[in-house]
Amino acid sequence: METVHVKDRDFGTYLTEAMIADKVSALAADLNRDYAGKKPLFIAILNGAFMFASDLFKKIEIDAEISFIKLASYKGMKSSGNVITAIGLEQDLYGRDVIIVEDIVDTGKTLYHFLPQLQHQHPASLKVAALLHKPEATQFPLQIDYVGFIIPNKFVVGYGLDYDGLGRNLKEIYQLVQE
Ligand code: IMP
Ligand code: MG
Repeated sequence: METVHVKDRDFGTYLTEAMIADKVSALAADLNRDYAGKKPLFIAILNGAFMFASDLFKKIEIDAEISFIKLASYKGMKSSGNVITAIGLEQDLYGRDVIIVEDIVDTGKTLYHFLPQLQHQHPASLKVAALLHKPEATQFPLQIDYVGFIIPNKFVVGYGLDYDGLGRNLKEIYQLVQE
């Protein structure tokens, strides 16, 4: 196992470049099949999903659009306030087939609060494609329609995912080495 040092922690190889590429191709094949004859709008969530979205989109062979957004969450006056604002969402989603592209679904909190806001625009359909999913970490029930890898509840970096802003440039996905 190759290890890398990111900021102040050691991470070991978990998913290789080849494993990721194969999985991305398989996901793209599913999407090409399921959305044949449609013109879906992919919405990739920055920053983490940029690499996955780019590789996935290159393998989409049907007519499709892509847009990148950033989510900012505001804690309202009430402690439980979970208002999530999308920065950069310009398209009208009415009647569109929308596919949200995420790097990882961890607790599910982000999408759990964000998806209903998109539903308000009445897309024809709204699905989620996530490269990674940590089911053991789920706190907010969420349907993930296209999942790359189901992974254990351990912190990962690389391929767009960061640890304190670092490690996004790694080609492989690394898992925290438990001390
Ligand atoms: P959730 O709202 O708890 O599902 O968290 C989703 C976001 O947290 C992801 O889009 C990531 O940006 C970040 N995240 C969750 N787990 C990890 C991890 O293991 N490594 C890096 N980022 C993570
Ligand atoms: Mg993210």
